[in-house]
Amino acid sequence: MATSPAMYAELNPLPRLLMGPGPVNADPRVLRAMSAPLLGQFDPQFREYMRETMALYRQVFETRNEWTLVVDGTARSAIEAAMVSVVEPGDRVLVGNFGRFGQLQIEIARRVGAEVRVVEAPWGAVLAPEQVEAALRQHRPKLFAVCQGETSTTMLQPLAELGRLCGRYDALFQVDATASLGGVPLPAEAWGVDCVTAGLQKCLAGPPGAAPLTISDRMADLVFRRRHIEEGLRPAGYRPPATVRIGSNYFDLAMVMDYWGPQGINHHTEATTMLYAARESARIFLAEGATSVFARHALAGRAVAAGVAALGLKVFGDAANRIPHITGVCVPDGVDGERVRARMLSDFGVEIGSAFGPLKGKIWRVGTMGYNARKDAVLVTLAALEAALAAERVTCPRGAGVDAAAAVYRDAERGP
Ligand SMILES: Cc1ncc(COP(=O)(O)O)c(C=O)c1O
Repeated sequence: MATSPAMYAELNPLPRLLMGPGPVNADPRVLRAMSAPLLGQFDPQFREYMRETMALYRQVFETRNEWTLVVDGTARSAIEAAMVSVVEPGDRVLVGNFGRFGQLQIEIARRVGAEVRVVEAPWGAVLAPEQVEAALRQHRPKLFAVCQGETSTTMLQPLAELGRLCGRYDALFQVDATASLGGVPLPAEAWGVDCVTAGLQKCLAGPPGAAPLTISDRMADLVFRRRHIEEGLRPAGYRPPATVRIGSNYFDLAMVMDYWGPQGINHHTEATTMLYAARESARIFLAEGATSVFARHALAGRAVAAGVAALGLKVFGDAANRIPHITGVCVPDGVDGERVRARMLSDFGVEIGSAFGPLKGKIWRVGTMGYNARKDAVLVTLAALEAALAAERVTCPRGAGVDAAAAVYRDAERGP
């Protein structure tokens, strides 16, 4: 018997204020850019937008690296593209691990066939340079990979010293800045970082689905040595090089770079709408100015921390190394953190994050990133948290969270 096709309602989600660890609400200007008409991937206008996007991200990453582009995929696609393109099976990779996303780098490096070594810090702390130096000296890796902002633990790894160490031990230095690019400084060139990868969905105020990436010339040279033209595009008489072919077609950065570069050799079909989003995210960031954006993120994070402290809650993690714009809040003993989150969502439309691994059920994560690094977003979130706690019979001083956060903003507006 024929069944009629299922028909669903028009997509019309309730509005949400996304104050978790990402994605956050995209800047409306980014969403508007995404509704611009599609163009062919080799339309001169579109190629110009691609070149502009490369130029904009050179400024965001603070680098002159020629190979600064956007990988089509979520943030991990750029991590994977960089690793699979530069690391050959059997190469040694050292990963600095202090949370879930360090573990992601370990997993990706293993899948690529690397001989993986790990230097670790507990969840809630970061790596000490001496630790990293000892591991670099012992293992002599081809590449050292670490997160700048470890979203799972809300910790921020200082990088400048690690860049110097990688230079001293001749290791390529790869940084996952998904949770930090656009929220805190990351001058790739000055800090000796060979590869930085990110996503749009946090401090860059865009949606998930595009992964900005920059790689240094020396890393690009290693990738290009493995350049093998795709089989269906090879000219007559082509002889592939004797190097190990990159083990992924989609993430073959040599082919991706040939596509983005002046030759425009066909590879994937660039995700037109995400390119528009990535371009607009970078444009908005640079138009406001990095200093102002970083200050806005730090201020919002300070206001959240003051607010939760005034509610009698504890902020999680080593205070000296917290990501300014993602605050870990300890769930009070005896409170069901998931019920609090669910009530904030159902009663206020406010989403905050839970946590993974050893921190599951122990902390909430409150993000104040990108478009949501704003006073009104912070105050609404604290009001919702207070009300949800009250409903769980946690006694906290009514109104104190909002008052304390508002005072942080007042002081900042007054200036020094
Ligand atoms: C630090 C970090 N790295 C990598 C990822 C993976 O990003 P995506 O989910 O966009 O692939 C995330 C996601 O939240 C992240 O926070």
